[in-house]
Formats: sequence, C-alpha cells, structure tokens
Amino acid sequence: MGHSSRRVLRNLTLFLAIASSPVLAQIVQLGPGESSGDSTSISEDPTVTPTDSIASSAAAVTTTADGAVKTVPVYQIPIEPVAFEPFPIPTESSIPGVFVNTNPADPPPVGSRAIPNFGPAWATAYEKAKAKIANFSLEEKVNVTTGVGWMNGRCVGNVPSIPIDYDPSNPEHVEKGYPGLCLEDSPLGVRFADFVSAFPAGINAAASWNRRLMRLRGLSMGQQFKGKGVHIALGPMMNMGRVAAGGRNWEGFGGDPFLAGEAAYETVLGLQQGGTQACAKHLINNEQEHKRSLSSSDVDDRTQHEVYLHPFLRSIMAGAATIMCSYNLINGTYACENNKIQNEIVKGEFGFQGQILSDWGAHHSTMAAMAGLDMSMPGDVTFSSGTSWWGKTLVDFVQNGTIPEARVDDMATRILAGYYLLEQDSSSFPPVNFDAFKPDDQDLNDHIDVQTDAHEKLVRDLGSASVVLLKNENGALPLGGNSVNGGKAERDIVLVGSDAGPGRMGPNQFADQGGSDGILAMGWGSGTANFTYLVTPLDAIQRRARKTRTSVSWILDDFNLPRAGNMARFKSAALVFIASDSGEEYITVDGNIGDRKNLTAWHGGDDLVLAVAAQNKNTIVVVNSVGPIIVDKWVEHENVTAVVWAGLQGNEAGTAIADILYGEWNPSGKLPYTIAKAEADYLPIASGNEAPREILKIDYTEGLEIDYRYFDARNITPRYEFGFGLSYTTFEYSQLSIRKVDHEAGSESELVKAWEEGNPTPQTPGISRAFWLHRPAYDITFTVKNTGGVYGGDIPQVYLHLPPSAGAPPSVLKGFTSVELRPGQTKRVTIPLSRYDLSIWDAVGQGWRKANADGGSVGLSVGQSSRKFKVNGTVPL
Ligand code: BGC
Repeated sequence: MGHSSRRVLRNLTLFLAIASSPVLAQIVQLGPGESSGDSTSISEDPTVTPTDSIASSAAAVTTTADGAVKTVPVYQIPIEPVAFEPFPIPTESSIPGVFVNTNPADPPPVGSRAIPNFGPAWATAYEKAKAKIANFSLEEKVNVTTGVGWMNGRCVGNVPSIPIDYDPSNPEHVEKGYPGLCLEDSPLGVRFADFVSAFPAGINAAASWNRRLMRLRGLSMGQQFKGKGVHIALGPMMNMGRVAAGGRNWEGFGGDPFLAGEAAYETVLGLQQGGTQACAKHLINNEQEHKRSLSSSDVDDRTQHEVYLHPFLRSIMAGAATIMCSYNLINGTYACENNKIQNEIVKGEFGFQGQILSDWGAHHSTMAAMAGLDMSMPGDVTFSSGTSWWGKTLVDFVQNGTIPEARVDDMATRILAGYYLLEQDSSSFPPVNFDAFKPDDQDLNDHIDVQTDAHEKLVRDLGSASVVLLKNENGALPLGGNSVNGGKAERDIVLVGSDAGPGRMGPNQFADQGGSDGILAMGWGSGTANFTYLVTPLDAIQRRARKTRTSVSWILDDFNLPRAGNMARFKSAALVFIASDSGEEYITVDGNIGDRKNLTAWHGGDDLVLAVAAQNKNTIVVVNSVGPIIVDKWVEHENVTAVVWAGLQGNEAGTAIADILYGEWNPSGKLPYTIAKAEADYLPIASGNEAPREILKIDYTEGLEIDYRYFDARNITPRYEFGFGLSYTTFEYSQLSIRKVDHEAGSESELVKAWEEGNPTPQTPGISRAFWLHRPAYDITFTVKNTGGVYGGDIPQVYLHLPPSAGAPPSVLKGFTSVELRPGQTKRVTIPLSRYDLSIWDAVGQGWRKANADGGSVGLSVGQSSRKFKVNGTVPL
C-alpha cells in the first residue's frame, strides 16, 4: 500500500517540530475572499519577532530588556511540499442477491446473507460534495474541516455554516449554501437534550447478543438524533474491554472483537438508517482512562488487525460516514497524527471513504492533515484557547506550499460526502433545535419530543434481553410461582439497597451522571444522556407484585446492615440490589478517576448481600454494573439462590428487571466479558511512576489474548465465563454439519484460489473488506431443541480452535445467532463463516491468510458459552 506514505512520513518530522511551536493562529471563521496572508511564522521564542516566511528567515531582530538590539537565530523549518493524491476508491461490482447496492436509508434486513455495497451511494455523494466545494474558496473549504471551538455552538461539536443568503444576487453563492454540521454525543442517546430516550448502554446491547435488537437500538437512536437536528452522532464506541477496570468499557461492546464487530455493524446500519451519520470511535487503543492523552498503546500489527481494528472494519462495511481518532498515542505516535493507522490502514487497506474527526482536543498539529485527519474537533487547540491547528493556520500552510490544496479538497469532500450520503441536504432534515450548553434558553430550545412508543418498547425489550441470569437454584426465579416451586407466589418480599430505588434528587442529579445514587442505569461522562424519566426496580416490582397480592417492603439504606438483615428475616424472598460504576476521567467519583479503582460492589454491596443472606434462605442478588465485579465473597453462599446480572439498561431499567424476575421475559442474555474469581486474574490498568507529562507506555504484550482468550490460554478458571447465561428453560444441540458453500466461478476465483493455497491477500485498495473475502464460504448447520417447559431464546455461539501453527488463543468466537423456541420445538440453524473469519493476519505478507496455511486443522465448536461446547467438528479447509 504505502500510498504517498514515504513523503508523508518525512513530513511527520516537520509537523512534530511545528507541534512544539507556541505560535498558532486564532480561530477565525474566514469570510469569502478574505486573505489570510501567505506565510506562517514559527518561532521558538515567543519574544522574538518572527520574520515573514519560515522558509526564508534565518534570523530575527529582538530588543532585550535593557534596550539593546540583538539578532537571534529563528527556528527554521524547511518547506518540503508534500504530494497528495486522493486514495483510490475500491471497486467491486454488485452481484444480485449477494452483494447488493445499498443506500444507508435502506439496509439489508438483519440476518441477511447479503453484503451491502455502499460503493454507488458513496459515488453519488462524492459527486455532490465535489460539485459543492467547487464553489468554495480555500478559506471556505478549511472552514468545513475546522470546528468553531469549544462551546461556541449549540452542539458539542460544530462546523460553521455557509449562509444560503450569503449573496442572493449571485447564483454561484446560492449554490454554496450549507447549514454547517452539528456533532453530538453519545453512544446511548442524544446527550444534553430533553425529551430523548436513555437507551441501554453499549455493553448491554452486546450482552443481548441479539442482532435484531442491536439494529433497532441503532435505528431508534438515529431517529432521535435526526429529530434533534444532529448530523453526526458520536457513537458507537468500540474500544475493547481489554482491562476489566477500564472506565469506559460500558460504552462499548465487551471483551471480544467479533461480538464488538457485529454490535458495531448493526448499530451503524441502524443509526444511519435513522438519518444521522455514525461515528465509529475511538480509533484506536483507548482501552483505559488513566493517562489517556499521555500514554502510548504499543500493539503489534497482527493484534491490531484481529482485535482492535476489527470493529472499525465492520463499521466501514456498514457504511459509517465518520470515524473519531483517539486521545492516546499508538506505538509512539498520537492517534490523530498516525499515518499508519489513518491513511495506510483505514483509508487504504479498509477503503474508508468517509472522514476522520479528532476526539475533543486529540488534534496536535497542522500537519495531521497529511497523516489522515480530516476534521478538527472542537476546533481549538485546547478548549476555549482561541487558537487552532487548522482554520487560518491551515490556509497559511496551503498558501506557503506546505500542504497541497488537493488534500484540503479531499478533506472537505469526505466531510460533505457524509452529509450527502445521509441525504442531510434534504429539506426534511430538521434544523438543530436544542442547545447542549444552554438548556434553559427558551429561544434556543424547541423541546421537541423525539421519543416514540416504539423506542420505549425497544428500551424495555433490550433492557430485558440484555439481562444475564448467572445463578438460579431451588426455583428461586421466576417470581410469582413457577414449576419448580410448585407455582407458589411469594407471600412477601423485601427490596434491599439504594440501587433498587430512585436517587434522592432525581435521575439527573449529577452532571454527566457523575455520581452514584439510586438505580444505576448508565455510567458517567460524555457517553451519557439525560433521563427524561427513569423507572426504578421499586416502582416496577411493586406494581407487578400486586398481581399476586405479594406484600412489598424495602430498605434503600446500604449501610444499616442489622436492619436490612432483620427486615429480610421471614420474607419469601429478599432481593438485594448492588451496583458498580465508572466513567470518563474528567469526572472523579468516590476516588474513581474514570477507571474503577477496584472491582468490588459499591456502597458496601458485598456486606449488604452477606447481611441479608445470613437471615434469608432465598436471597436474590440483582447487579447493575458497568462491567465485571468480583462476586466470590457471596456467590456460593447457600442462601444466595439467584444472581441477575442487569448491566446498564437506561430508562426502563426497573421494568426490564421486573420482566425478568417475573418471567415475562425469559432470560437470554450472555456475558460479553469474563467474570473472574479474583481481581488479580485480570489484566490491570497500566500505570507507573512516570512524571505527569511523561508518556506512559502500555504494552499490549498479551496480544490476541484478551478476556476469555487470556483465561483460556493461561488455564485460569473464571467464576462465569464469557458467553455464559442461563434461561428458565433448557436447550439441546445436535447434528452438526459443516459444508463449503459452492459459488459460481467468477472474477473472484483467482483470488479465492490463491487464498485457498495459503497465500496472503494481495495489497489492493480496500482489500480487508473485499466482498469475496467476507461472503459466506462455509455453512455451519446444527439443530437446537427447547428441552424445558417454557418458551425461550438461546444464543448458539460458534468458536474456532485454530491449529498451533496459527499462534492463536485456544478458542475464538466467529459466529452467533438468536434462536427462539417453544417447549419441545426444534430448529435447524445455519451460521455462515467467511474466508475472513477463517483467516489470520499475516504481518509479514501484510494480508489475510487462511488460518491453517502452515498446516494443521481448524476445529470448530458450537456452544452456549466460551467453555460450554455442545457439538464439535472440523472445517474442511
Ligand atoms: C470523548 C468523546 C466524546 C467527546 C465529545 C471526549 O472527551 O472522549 O467520546 O465524543 O469528548 O464530547
């Protein structure tokens, strides 16, 4: 690949030099025809008057304090013009029924074997974008790429408009009209807005393992973002749950790249069908909060491809219009300045046609433009600094010949193409109708209610579908009478713990949810939304218990242990609610600076469970947590009869928990991460004694082995393994068949043949998302039977066991689906595997290579978790 990369790399030295310069242009929105001057002055010493041109200046004259005039050398940066050519656009022609031309508004249905081809839609969008910028001056093009600065607009990120009435007498100017762009968080709903839904968090979408609900969540959010006038929704978040204590893990999709990739794929398709541009974030390796802006994640090429980049590739395949580069450095270079990741891999190898925007303040130089960054957010160097790496500075860099205008054209084209791809130029696209920073300004907030009944139902359904039942003994659940306990409803129950009830000052008492009081339904930070309402377990369970005339009492005090124990004493069941919270590093809650400082339940939750279990033989624990907590203090206590892992469910948290407890929804969620027996079994948050400004090196030496792969590879027995989850019914698996899919010979046959012979894929543009590599190549078919007494759903999971020659973890997830069955019903189920699924990344050959190219066979299991394999076979590769 290496498209223009040698030249770009040479210039990286230049931009690092520039990055250290104190001289930066002010953020100015450049007006039409306004000249920005044609030189940039770079001086090491701010007291020195810089001379006109950095290329020609060798010395500057300055006056010292005593009035003497002296000449000092000026830091010289030679201008070396960089060549730029837009990335080649990958071409593949559609194949009816299998590789289908797709518009974001009309994606293939969930579970379809068809692969969407967004190529023609991008081509149309590019044409419109190019026609638009043909009318733009350099300054106007630059304005498209540079945000207006922190809190200078109505959204968390704003690109300035070009007024339609700019010069109405000039038809060319009318052509220019464009409303600018509104960029708004978060991955679970519209942040800083009213009358929106708080959807279940990303980690819960992953815990559902349910593609239909993931898609619907994306679609519902997309509709709400659009309804508020948001052009770019800042999600999904898809950094990996590499360290269990990672503060933002809950925003993302867990500890396995395949699961995260599918969740990202469905979310992006849904969001964009809803009409807003998706933003896959954070590219890449932002797996912990501690020193997120001053750490280098050092990751080998194969691990990048197979683990951390995979969800981004899937997002690109779903047509994602934007990607956000992360705060951290990657292998020693800041993410937003990273030519290797942004240009070579994402735009080259993955064929990404949209734009890369910086995380807020993650942009560190003007030359980042040459390293692949397309948009600077929020536009100022540091929040409200009034300076910008781009804006006028970028204009200067173009005018003095450092950065080719062709690159600015490419940036603006990519940005506007996203806008056209989603048809946001249509008159039906609403104007921004809220103000993120001034919610009380009546002129700026129309209070538009973007929630629908369907959204509310989705929040509730996904809330239930994402609950993981970890333990259920003696017919403890479902409540209200079940076949195991002889159909006897509870005479009386008690709800224990603050997590069962409301926060004392309502659901929005802490800014950005940075606090913990009452039912935990999301973590804290930018990945949040306001609660328009929040149903607590106490509300929902009390109402539901009326149906069986069960008496309900509660104690929401976490620390009155004797009282809690006494209240639980003679009750038919005692439900203890515990929680664990985390978030983004700019907020510290109870000593947790984003990342969790330990993995135990908050508010003394362990002691609360033990106090209740000491007095009640039917103690049911409900956990609302951002990630794994260590449950070993109480989980095997004989009086703890059930454990309900509820995660972060959003608005309908209480309703969804009640639906599960009372069996209105048969649990089908599976863990999206491993729950260990001890904290020491996990990879820790990286930290060191480094000085505050020093870069912390985070070595990803475990390579491919994160989460369950790490436990498997080291023979560590987890408490509950990845993929585990019980149901109120039981399932049996049988009759596995693994069959190669026959394709008609076509233009792809040479490529397929080379792959089958064990060669790495060729280095052509967009190769990693090539259609032939991703189309179904093998069908894995098996029978699932509901062998229990009630209707329910299961999640069959396909794991590969690659031969030793592949150097891979013992088991890797490569497929899953949802099956819902009546008691006694059987179904044949097929899960396809692609050549990509059966490949490993060959770092030497720089391509995807058949996993057993170096010998050995590829084993396969279908099971109910990463350790509960039900049927096994071999892939005839
Ligand atoms: C976060 C991003 C977020 C942005 C804008 C940053 O601090 O890392 O995820 O989208 O702020 O709020």
